[in-house]
Amino acid sequence: MAIRHLMSPLDFSVEETERLLDLANDIELHRDTYSNICEGKRIATLFYEPSTRTRLSFEAAMMNLGGKVLGFHSEDSSSATKGESVADTIRIVSCYADIAAMRHPKEGAPLVASLKSSIPVINAGDGGHQHPTQTLTDMLTIRSLKGRLDNLTIGLCGDLKFGRTVHSLIESLSRYPGISFVLISPEELRVPSYVRNGMKSKKIPFSEVEKLDAETMADLDILYMTRVQKERFFNEADYVRMKDFYILDREKMALAPKDMCVLHPLPRVNEISVEVDDDPRACYFKQAQYGVYARMALILTLMGIEVSK
Ligand code: NCD
Repeated sequence: MAIRHLMSPLDFSVEETERLLDLANDIELHRDTYSNICEGKRIATLFYEPSTRTRLSFEAAMMNLGGKVLGFHSEDSSSATKGESVADTIRIVSCYADIAAMRHPKEGAPLVASLKSSIPVINAGDGGHQHPTQTLTDMLTIRSLKGRLDNLTIGLCGDLKFGRTVHSLIESLSRYPGISFVLISPEELRVPSYVRNGMKSKKIPFSEVEKLDAETMADLDILYMTRVQKERFFNEADYVRMKDFYILDREKMALAPKDMCVLHPLPRVNEISVEVDDDPRACYFKQAQYGVYARMALILTLMGIEVSK
């Protein structure tokens, strides 16, 4: 059987994505059924960039399936500091683990690794490019809370230029009918042209605005907030100027639709005030929980493991 990797959310067809999300929902309901299914299997988490949720949720996902975990959590603690390439590292890791998740500051690094790998490689975030497992998490959250992935108006707010979760989510949701986007960002942090052109070529309705106000939020089903990606800025002054451009607080939430869900891939910095956390429309902590189910379903799918019921 050919090895399957996950580099972009579009690597799975819409049908495959739906199947994976169904599996994630089943895992959520029947945790015990899956608790030993990966016994004897190992995941390697190869993180060249900091992470809390993504790395720990991969590790929790494999442990919940009865498997084991090995890996490193920073470039400094790996042989990358001695000059080893990701291609060599993955060849070695292929001898120690059955599946690997890699996060890297360089766009395309997990893809390079996958070409030399004899185990499935998952892109756990490559620079400002893509973050497909966050997208599976986001889609699972939206589908579970709203009951559908079509006919939705989605507002994406903040750093749409460097925010890789935004790029992956737009590409994925663009495959569903009746989707439209409201892109809310400062001029300097608008989506990259390849993302904009992708929406145009698929004739997806979208608007680009700067203000997060009542008019912008009026028709939103989802408001997806993001932090300004400090680590991808070339100069500190630009970051400082833009970091508090948006702050979603109680006053702003009073202007938003009553059934709008607020999502955020996290970590948040200042862009959502903590006073919003108690609002029933604040769904970002639930979203982090869905991330574990999505990654459990992904591990099983890529490893071709099926539960016998
Ligand atoms: C995101 C990422 O790493 O791109 N975080 C995550 O994986 N949950 C978002 C971010 O860092 O802002």
